Amino acid sequence: MVNIDTDTLKGVMFMLEPIPMSQSRTIQTRLVLPPDTNHMNTIFGGKVLAYIDEIAAITSMKHAKMQTVTASFDSVDFYSPVKSGEILRFEAIVSSTGRTSMELYIVVHSRDIYTGVTKLTTESFVTMVAVDKNGKPQEVAPVFPETEEEKRLFEAGPLRRKIRKEKREMPNKFFKL
Ligand SMILES: CC(C)(COP(=O)(O)OP(=O)(O)OC[C@H]1O[C@@H](n2cnc3c(N)ncnc32)[C@H](O)[C@@H]1OP(=O)(O)O)[C@@H](O)C(=O)NCCC(=O)NCCS
Repeated sequence: MVNIDTDTLKGVMFMLEPIPMSQSRTIQTRLVLPPDTNHMNTIFGGKVLAYIDEIAAITSMKHAKMQTVTASFDSVDFYSPVKSGEILRFEAIVSSTGRTSMELYIVVHSRDIYTGVTKLTTESFVTMVAVDKNGKPQEVAPVFPETEEEKRLFEAGPLRRKIRKEKREMPNKFFKL
């Protein structure tokens, strides 16, 4: 006879059905306009961050099937400037999941409309948390990869989660009110 403790049983009973990464994959396209740019005619980093935040919210809500909040911008790398008149393409997937949190991977490409030249401009990891109407974290279904590319991203998830956890444990309360 196999002995299963009640905690294990609870985990199995409440485990939500895993969902493929492709189910919530989201793509958005934006035109860069003059008000979005600085004195060098290139897009403000903050504008790109706002678009990233929006697509991370949409993608995570599609996965969690409930509202989500941004817990952390884990990393953002800007690789190339983007000029007014260019087109931005944002692509986001849920790259790994915790109990209530989802890690989102977002890649941004720019396209010159005249030449068709496409460049990688930004790459980001964002953590979103599923919450109920009172802002209390809620359990999310695990995500699973289907393609080789998704598998590589998924398998490195636990390492990124460990780094995030270590960063959060660092003393960072320098300013006392
Ligand atoms: C994110 C938030 C809901 C977490 O609530 P909490 O009471 O700290 O909940 P917990 O400690 O139980 O953490 C819940 C999950 O969030 C994750 N989390 C919490 N803070 C995090 C952070 N700074 N970075 C990454 N993940 C974080 C935890 O690891 C946990 O994940 P898991 O369930 O997958 O293991 C809460 O801090 C919050 O509401 N923050 C403000 C969100 C907001 O307003 N965002 C808009 C931008 S200002």
